[in-house]
Order: sequence, then C-alpha cells, then structure tokens
Amino acid sequence: MKSLRPYNTFGFDVSARDIVLMHGIEDYLRCVRDSGPRLILGGGSDVLLSEDFPGTVYVMASRGITVERKTADYAVVRFAAGESWKETVEWCLGCGLSGIENLALIPGTCGAAPVQNIGAYGREFADICEYVEIMHEDGTCERLPPEKCGFSYRMSRFKSDLSGCLITAVGLRLSRSFVPHIGYKALQCLGEKRDLSALDVYDKILELRGDRLPDPARIGNAGCFFQNPVIDREKAAELQRRFPEMPQFEFGSLVKVPAGWLIDKAGLKGFEHERAAVWSKQALVLVNRGGARPQEVLDLAGIVTDRVRERYGIELQPEVRIADSRGFVDPKSPLRRSGTGRGH
Ligand code: FAD
Ligand code: EPU
Repeated sequence: MKSLRPYNTFGFDVSARDIVLMHGIEDYLRCVRDSGPRLILGGGSDVLLSEDFPGTVYVMASRGITVERKTADYAVVRFAAGESWKETVEWCLGCGLSGIENLALIPGTCGAAPVQNIGAYGREFADICEYVEIMHEDGTCERLPPEKCGFSYRMSRFKSDLSGCLITAVGLRLSRSFVPHIGYKALQCLGEKRDLSALDVYDKILELRGDRLPDPARIGNAGCFFQNPVIDREKAAELQRRFPEMPQFEFGSLVKVPAGWLIDKAGLKGFEHERAAVWSKQALVLVNRGGARPQEVLDLAGIVTDRVRERYGIELQPEVRIADSRGFVDPKSPLRRSGTGRGH
C-alpha cells in the first residue's frame, strides 16, 4: 500500500493499493480504461479520504500553457489539468490578463476548477470558462463550452452525469483590459481607490484569505467543509423573524444563507472534538489539529450538522468530496458516524 498523505490537504495518513501520476495521454487512457476501483485526484484540497483505498488513485500532474487566441480585447489560454490554479492566477496577472483575480489563492489544480465550479468574492470559474477539455470513459476527447457544463453554485455535470470522465485541460477567456468585480461586501472598500488595478484586487484578496483561512501546509483542512444552503423564501422569512441579524442573499427565486454564520451563531466556532476543530476564524472550515483520523473530522461534521438542524431546521450538505474504500460517496447520503455503520 502507498501513502496518500502527500495527496490530501487534510494530511490524513490513509493508503491506496497504487498511485499513478498522470503526465499525458498514455496515463489518461490507462485511467479511463481502469475497470477496477479508481479515484481521480488533483491537489487533494477538496476531498476527505476516509479510509484506505483498495484500488488505484490517479493524480493529475500534466503541465503546459498555450495561448490559443489573442484579440484586442481578450486572450484564450489553454491550461493543462495539472497546472496549479494559484500559479495560473499569478501567471495571468503577470501577462496583463485579468478577470481571474477574484479567484486568487484557491488551492488545487486547473483540472479540478470546473468540477465544483470554484468560486470566491463574487466570481466563479464559469465566468471565465471558454471550454473544458475532457476524455470520456471510452477514450474519446471533447471540448465542452461552458453552457454544456451545467455550472451553478458549487456544481457542474462533472459531479453528476460526467463524473466518470477525466478533465484534461481548461480553456480560459481572459480580459486584456481590467474590469473590476468588487461588488462583494469585503471588496467594496476598493471602490474608493484611484487607478484600481487587477493587482490591487489580488492583493486585497490575499489579505482577506490570509486573515480567515488556515494554510493547509501548516493546519490540515479542505477549505469550507459545507456548502452555503439555498432555501425557499418562506423558510428564509421564518428564519429572518427568529434571527433578524442573519445575512441572507438573493439566489434567483431562492435565498442563500451563510453556513459560517449559522455555525458561528450556534456557538460552535473554535469547538474542538478530539483532534479535529471548527476553525476559530471561519466556522465553515473544519481542521485537523494534528494527527486526527478522518473519522474524528467526520464525527465533528456530524455534530455541526446536528446542531444546525436543531437550531435552524436546515440540513447542511458537505462541499468536500468524501471518499471511502468504494470511491466517492453520494454527497446527499448521511455522514458516516462512529459506531453507526457505513451510513450509506
Ligand atoms: P481534488 O481535491 O483533488 O479533487 C476534487 C474533486 O475533483 C474530486 O471529486 C476529484 O475526483 C475531482 N477531480 C480533480 N481533478 C480532476 C480531473 N482532472 N478530472 C476529473 N475530476 C477531477 N474552493 C472554492 O470554490 N473557493 C474557495 O475559495 C476555496 N478556498 C479554499 C481554501 C483552502 C485553504 C482549501 C484547502 C480549499 C479551498 N477550496 C475552495 C476548495 C478547493 O481548493 C477547490 O475545490 C479546488 O478546485 C480543488 O482542487 P484539487 O485539484 O485539489 O481537487
Ligand atoms: N460568517 C460568520 N462567521 C463565520 C464565517 C462567516 O458570521 O465564522 C458570516 C460573515 O460575516 C459573512 C457571511 O458569513 O456575513 C459570509 O462569510 P464569507 O464572506 O467569509 O464567505 P463564506 O460564505 O463563509 C464563501 C465560500 C468560500 C469563499 C468565500 C469568499 C462557500 C461554501 N464558501 O465563504 O469558499 O472563499 O465565500 O467568497 O461558498 C471554499 O469553498 O472552500 C471556500 C473557502
């Protein structure tokens, strides 16, 4: 068995029968044709690997950046799936290409960015996506335009009907003239700045993220453990009556509420359970305080979910993809708790 510790940002010491780093087409074909148990990983920054895996873990490691088209207004650039997202943002800004700056410092790979349609500070992957390049399970390749990717909040077809395919590259459409996207509350202060640039937005986001989010190199975590719940207007109105200070955001015909606020105001910010904890600066993040077993984080997630359900009548859904010895678990299935069997 081989250790997966370097391949998951929670730092869990679980193993796989084999680990294959994918650098190009031959590795991709091996991955999609593997009929045994298999898992695909990028940087492992959005997964909770809960137990040893009896199959092969394929880790995307391909590199390559190609400028495919350039006009007076924009450039389309292809990034191989194994390119680091954080470095991609820095590369674009260094070339004078913008539109991506609000997504600075998100860990992981370019290939994983479409999977949950990464988002931060009012922007998401879908906003700059020109195409997603995929290899199907039969080895055929296709470039999907964004309208065929089913993007919505933390969702895409790569989590549903296309979950078996491999993302081999992404094409980004980047702007050659900077248009600020500073509507997000924490960015609005930038509106007062003269000659605002993409680098100013980038710097502000570095500051905000540094204040709130733990660095996985020091404290194991996978970012926000839960998604922000989306509820109907009737439920939102009931909650607003009971909790007048609760922030609520329009979300089409529905309402999005910040799970971090729900957990925080339920008194769980900083709460510790064995070697796992709710992060003291951002209650949506669960951390490995050092040496935690995956089950300790799962049990903590269960405690948080129960408290939020009891207090607000809202069922939290994990954002983090949970895998067990059979592969990724259905996100809607109950969390597996100590002593309660498999739970799915
Ligand atoms: P992994 O965790 O390795 O994989 C995630 C999922 O994608 C898995 O289901 C995997 O099978 C699948 N996958 C990965 N690569 C491929 C591929 N090439 N083809 C097919 N499937 C693939 N996310 C946000 O949206 N916004 C944030 O602000 C944010 N902040 C974060 C902050 C911290 C400190 C951390 C640790 C995480 C944060 N995340 C955030 C979550 C995470 O960084 C993103 O979801 C990221 O895109 C995951 O990339 P990865 O390469 O690590 O994917
Ligand atoms: N809040 C609290 N207490 C907390 C955390 C948040 O009261 O402990 C409140 C804040 O005061 C604010 C609201 O909740 O009113 C929203 O907080 P914040 O702006 O920090 O954003 P979030 O909804 O908690 C989301 C994403 C993050 C992303 C940030 C910035 C999800 C699940 N999370 O967090 O993404 O970086 O917005 O846009 O949508 C991730 O997905 O891993 C992630 C880090």
